[in-house]
Amino acid sequence: MIDGRLACRLNPNRIATPAFVVDLGLLEDNCRILDQVRQRTGCKILLALKCFAMYATFPLLRQYLDGICASSPYEARLGREEFQREVHAFAAAFSESDIRALAKTCDHLVFNSFAQFERFGPLAKQVAEQAGNILHFGLRINPEHSEGTVPMYDPCSPGSRLGIRREHFLSDRIGTVKGLHWHNLCEQDADCLQRTVAAVENAFGDVLPRMDYVNFGGGHHITRADYDRELLVDIINTFQQRWQVQVYLEPGEAVALNTGYLVATVLDIIQADMPIAIMDASVPAHMPDVLEMPYRPHIIGSSLPGEQPYTCRIGGLSCLAGDVAGEYSFPRPLEVGQQLVFTDMAIYTMVKTNTFNGVKLPDIVTWDPDSEQCKVVKTFGYTDFKQRL
Ligand SMILES: Cc1ncc(COP(=O)(O)O)c(C=O)c1O
Repeated sequence: MIDGRLACRLNPNRIATPAFVVDLGLLEDNCRILDQVRQRTGCKILLALKCFAMYATFPLLRQYLDGICASSPYEARLGREEFQREVHAFAAAFSESDIRALAKTCDHLVFNSFAQFERFGPLAKQVAEQAGNILHFGLRINPEHSEGTVPMYDPCSPGSRLGIRREHFLSDRIGTVKGLHWHNLCEQDADCLQRTVAAVENAFGDVLPRMDYVNFGGGHHITRADYDRELLVDIINTFQQRWQVQVYLEPGEAVALNTGYLVATVLDIIQADMPIAIMDASVPAHMPDVLEMPYRPHIIGSSLPGEQPYTCRIGGLSCLAGDVAGEYSFPRPLEVGQQLVFTDMAIYTMVKTNTFNGVKLPDIVTWDPDSEQCKVVKTFGYTDFKQRL
């Protein structure tokens, strides 16, 4: 399906590589799905910049979304300057200088502990007032309800440092706090949210009536074809009615899922236990989640090893022995100069790239389905590499 769509939309051979290419038509399709959830519930949806912060797309995204959520002063500033809608910020802990910056750029500041809220709340209020900014406070709770199985990606794992557990939640000290926030999902469906909401209602039922808004975090795979959006709409409507609060969602992946590609060129083909194609991209530098998660990214036109006549391994150009995307089969042998198109490369890629080994950062490119044109919105050079060192 993805292969077919891209094949008729984009001719990768016209692109200088390596390059991230985001299809604006596919991005808008996702936005329309999210907008339907907004229209049917009145909930607000924020883009999680940690996942996708390609601000060339913000004029499109802000037609459908309510704002952004940030994890740092830099993301909050980018959201304020470029998205120009609501800005929410949360981090496991803030420093005083973080607070001084965030108080000017945020609408909502979410603390991870009562200690941070009580230490920095008054300062944040003062800085915001001086800047003429209206700032609201929220607290992140830990629902102590896991839906994930991998502790690395489970904010509710037993030892998690994220969110205030019920036994440490000081109901008599919430003061000016008007929002609760949690995040416990990762690429999950609405039934996981349903069970989480039940856990929160069970543990925090005395706190919810005192809130104006509740943020269900990210990890909702809303734009995936088989996601149960009817159930999501039902959960949000029921929750808002029961507790008389504004619900927020802050997905990252769902916004840009399956909308971007990493296009690379084969530089050489060497022989080991099987042919290995070396490309002008690097797995740890350009798609680090492939190694961190880990997962095997799809390449357009490829299948699992052995399924098509020619099987090879695809590797990157860095020194890391494990700079390998995986093993793939193709209808015919790969050739030097041939381009490879990796799918679903908009999310958690551009925001995570690095210049390990001094490798060139991929260009950032948009594909406009109306004009059928690619536009290079950013290229990177030696200065970008040098400036960080
Ligand atoms: C607090 C918070 N909000 C939102 C997100 C976005 O999640 P996703 O991109 O899976 O939707 C994350 C991801 O880690 C997160 O930690």
